[in-house]
Amino acid sequence: MRALTVRPHVRNSLEVRDLPEPVPEEGQVLVDGLAVGVCGTDREIVDGLYGWAPPGRDRLVLGHESLGRVRQAPAGSGFSAGDLVVGVVRRPDPVPCGACGRGEFDMCRNGQYTERGIKEIDGYGSQTWCVETAYAVKLDARLERVGVLLEPASVVAKAWEQVERIGGRSWFDPERVLVTGAGPIGTLAALLGVQRGLEVHVLDRVTEGPKPSLIEALGATYHTEDADEVMRSLVPDIVIEATGAAEVVFAALSGNARYGIVCLTGVSPVGRKLNVEASSINREIVLENDAVVGSVNANLRHYQQAAEALAQADLAWLERLITRRVPLDRADEAFTAHNDDMKVVLTLDLWGDPT
Ligand code: BGC
Repeated sequence: MRALTVRPHVRNSLEVRDLPEPVPEEGQVLVDGLAVGVCGTDREIVDGLYGWAPPGRDRLVLGHESLGRVRQAPAGSGFSAGDLVVGVVRRPDPVPCGACGRGEFDMCRNGQYTERGIKEIDGYGSQTWCVETAYAVKLDARLERVGVLLEPASVVAKAWEQVERIGGRSWFDPERVLVTGAGPIGTLAALLGVQRGLEVHVLDRVTEGPKPSLIEALGATYHTEDADEVMRSLVPDIVIEATGAAEVVFAALSGNARYGIVCLTGVSPVGRKLNVEASSINREIVLENDAVVGSVNANLRHYQQAAEALAQADLAWLERLITRRVPLDRADEAFTAHNDDMKVVLTLDLWGDPT
């Protein structure tokens, strides 16, 4: 079978190679891969900046935003041949820490968790893959064209859960949310905000391409002004930050509503310096009971929440989020950025329709 491989920490080492077909172990389903999504983390790995190969090996199979069709499933597992399935990214640390021991592996305390396609376990970027039934999520058959969005949607479902739990520490009745960044994470965060009945605003730099109309089609408002200015005019109750751009992060920390919540989901490149008026930011956070929280990854509960959110969404709108489908053997093209890219997907089914 063909697989998308990379040598972590070696720049431009991406290579589609032939690997032996995996054989399912007890309790695993065997899956024909349909697609893997490409995200910022994959690009960082390909740029040699992130990622870890499995112990004793130098190459990692890339791909953590998965979608496949079950070929073979253990009897009584709840999965059958033909089911659409997505594999969970993270596995608990082996100790396990208290969080991992309770299924909250997205909150791992000792950092010894592993992640498929990212950290020490092969990913889902191969024509065939196996996954433990306990880490497999079944999807509605109608989601065949868009189910690859489940993993990014799970990250967003977790972010929303964090916001709601933090809000729940006192009386909480938010009305207005600002999402910064209209990439796939920001756009899915906006979708979940609209599904919650909130007034949703999205800030991005670009004025052209698919982003403005995707956001407006949700009934949300698209902004391109300076982040400080947008914060001043909207005074949002909630900010979901999905750019990782330092200026935007610090704009979000100041100027939000009293009891405001800022949830940071964007992973910044390291080493950027910024001059900020730190004491005013601290003063505002304290005097307004504001909260700032970082959020990464997702556990099984968030995958289920995300599956429900996708099932409720307009399928034609979700399809518009996937702006390019590139066959696995031309993987390089998927990693070359195009101006109008939203979600780029690699198709794994060599006989399927890549368009
Ligand atoms: C993935 C997460 C993962 C994180 C850090 C993200 O791209 O969606 O599941 O935890 O990268 O490795």
